[in-house]
Amino acid sequence: MKKKLLAAIFGATLVLGACGGGGDTDTGTDDGATGDDTASAVDAEAVFQQSCASCHGGNLEGASAPALDTVGADLSEDEIHDIIENGQGGMPPGLIKGDDADAVAAWLADKQ
Ligand code: HEC
Repeated sequence: MKKKLLAAIFGATLVLGACGGGGDTDTGTDDGATGDDTASAVDAEAVFQQSCASCHGGNLEGASAPALDTVGADLSEDEIHDIIENGQGGMPPGLIKGDDADAVAAWLADKQ
């Protein structure tokens, strides 16, 4: 994932460079789209649906695992990230990694 993000940033830099130089033709029109892609590189909710919803429920309502709809009130982003990485009780460690784990931890920390 990191590589993909770096590639996106590198790509954006190239596009900007091409613009400044004015040498290339229509690369400039891609500028806005490239910026958007970088900002939303990970769709946290989609990752959650794929990797977490089977135990925690599609609406964070809980199932075989506890509800997470107000998890941000109890746990910080760091603590949630830690649980994702290391697991806890019946929850397996390392289900998601890197940018996915960062994005889902931030997304869940907002649920209060
Ligand atoms: C195999 C079932 C399973 C999956 C898949 C799963 N979890 Fe869990 N999760 C659990 C269980 C069981 C617990 C309760 C662990 C305990 O404290 O005993 C838990 C606890 C948690 C907690 C702590 C909740 C609290 O109130 O203490 C968080 C945060 C969490 N899971 C996030 C996630 C995220 C994010 C994912 C997806 C990457 C995920 N879980 C995937 C089973 C699962």
